[in-house]
Amino acid sequence: MITLGIETSCDETALALIETRGGKYRVIESLIHSQAELHSVYGGVFPTLAKREHSKNLVPLLKKLLEKSEIYATSEDGAGTKIPTTLTDEEFGSAMAALTNLLALKNSDLLESIKGADFLKKIPPIDQIAVTEGPGLEPALWVGINFARILSTIWKIPVVAVNHMEGHIVGSLLQTDKPYGTWQKLKELPLPAVALLISGGHTELVKIETASETYKYTILGRTKDDAVGEAFDKVARLLGLPYPGGPHISKLAHEAREKGLASLIKLPRPMIGSNDCDFSFSGLKTAVLYAMKKIPTKSEGGTADNTTSQQDFKAGLAREFEDAVAETLDKKLRRAIDEQNAKAIVIGGGVSANRLLRERFNKTAEEYGIPIFLPDHHISGDNALMIALVATMKSSPESDHDASKTLHANGTKKLS
Ligand code: KG4
Ligand code: ZN
Repeated sequence: MITLGIETSCDETALALIETRGGKYRVIESLIHSQAELHSVYGGVFPTLAKREHSKNLVPLLKKLLEKSEIYATSEDGAGTKIPTTLTDEEFGSAMAALTNLLALKNSDLLESIKGADFLKKIPPIDQIAVTEGPGLEPALWVGINFARILSTIWKIPVVAVNHMEGHIVGSLLQTDKPYGTWQKLKELPLPAVALLISGGHTELVKIETASETYKYTILGRTKDDAVGEAFDKVARLLGLPYPGGPHISKLAHEAREKGLASLIKLPRPMIGSNDCDFSFSGLKTAVLYAMKKIPTKSEGGTADNTTSQQDFKAGLAREFEDAVAETLDKKLRRAIDEQNAKAIVIGGGVSANRLLRERFNKTAEEYGIPIFLPDHHISGDNALMIALVATMKSSPESDHDASKTLHANGTKKLS
């Protein structure tokens, strides 16, 4: 079975093709078009701009995906794949007419880009479409959903709705060290496991249990205010670093450690002692705001070159911020492992790219003597591979699972 994955929940437009057969999968192709640079002037993701960019990018990205993957060529043994056929102008025209009503008002720019996309007339051997339904930015999610509906209408294939956070969990079980095209198995996850999901919009601890073929999720705790990635991005802004702030803070903090620079100001570890698995990061961000008021002025610099002392001050603060985040996340992760008697740890979401956090969580797993599943670096951020993969776990070729009529963007969609 071949699945096309579509991901547009935030500022990455991503598409992927995977094939699954007999409990194994192979990545055919995966493409990500990041809009981060465009959003950086706003210091965060600007939803209307994200919507416009996804609408503009999806059609050319799909064309590139289909070409690069050579999907139209017959597969090695042809098993389970459909023979590509071409729609006549009339057939394409009537599919477009059906879509015009659906999209004219809501997503006219996406509709326009579809009209000129003659390559869509050639039906690729794809069996189903997987699309992120939420959580995320609703205007951005709708573009991916509408695109899935369009392709489903033109190619007459079903759509599976996928939860973005489940994508991040399953993404950490992918083996991506082998070249695309290699048949592989998902890493085996001992259950029950605890997942720590850390992204720009989420900070959650989740219990993963088995439920027949798929997983069952229970939220153990979550942030009461800002997500950890959001805190990284906001603190980066306070320190004068560009969006997305996580990698920049991490780099600055690393330099501070190398130079032995410590912060003169101790930041709080919010909710670290609370009797639950919840988090809070907005107070930490505010503490950085107040700390920045103490940045050495020209007269207090202590050195002839005042910019150096200001830079050192910021580096020390970045280090202290990262330490505070690492301590808090780790403490709650340990609490969840203890309470659930977890047999494995899964870390997912964009913040899992952070070096210090990876080291710390690896050490925790080692101390507990349980395996840890971290996403490979190139899929720690948003991608469509993880979305396609979740759909394959939820559907079989025989099942009647078309969600194309009921799809609805859900910005706060929960794991279940
Ligand atoms: O999962 P993701 O790509 O998008 C969402 O679903 O939100 O996560 C993006 C977040 C951003 O806040 C970004 O600053 C953060 O991940 N991030 C990092 C690092 N790389 C990305 N945070 C800390 N350290 C990093 N190295
Ligand atoms: Zn994400």
